[in-house]
Amino acid sequence: MYSAEVLDEICSLIREAEAEHGREIFLVSDEPYRKLLYDGLEYPHIFHHHQRSIVATSHSKDLALPGERIGYIAAHPDYEDKSELADGLVFCNRTLGFVNAPALMQHIVRALQSVSVDIDEYQRKRDFLYDSLTQMGYNMVKPQGAFYMFPASPTPDDVEFVAALQEHKVLVVPGRGFGLPGYFRISYCLDDHTLEGALPGFEAAIEAYR
Ligand SMILES: Cc1ncc(COP(=O)(O)O)c(C=O)c1O
Repeated sequence: MYSAEVLDEICSLIREAEAEHGREIFLVSDEPYRKLLYDGLEYPHIFHHHQRSIVATSHSKDLALPGERIGYIAAHPDYEDKSELADGLVFCNRTLGFVNAPALMQHIVRALQSVSVDIDEYQRKRDFLYDSLTQMGYNMVKPQGAFYMFPASPTPDDVEFVAALQEHKVLVVPGRGFGLPGYFRISYCLDDHTLEGALPGFEAAIEAYR
């Protein structure tokens, strides 16, 4: 997660670029994982850092509704042309045509803004998998939120290592699909039985590269 200090630095770069080019530059934050933070971390809201900012979010993760395609876009409340911005966004959504949540659900999610999935459950899964994998020798940053891990592949060829894990019936995604070859991504929003069942496969796969 970006700290308030890093956000400040990003925003001063944006303001310098705005002055240089003589036009507004928006900070757009795509944050469906905003409520999925661990260890009591506080999220530094971008609205405190830049007036020309937009938050886009989805309830795929915080309400565990993947595929429902429902969320919202919020513009900074002090942005002067916010109604023009909102009109533009509504128009874009209409012309896209395929991302239109049912009207009734759009009313219902308003009442669900203070609700989220049980974050402690995800944190418990993170701790279990992080401790187990690091003990086996996998190297990774401990996730501060969401439900993914991004370990270094024990061989530079992440696609080769993903295939090796597949041989042990463990499914993960090569890091090069996310612009970072040499790593792979694990998603751990799974039941405990599946996570426990994957450990022998993780162990056998790394063992072959020692
Ligand atoms: C960072 C990020 N933004 C947006 C989305 C898309 O959410 P939705 O399922 O509502 O299309 C995802 C889903 O994986 C995501 O990880």
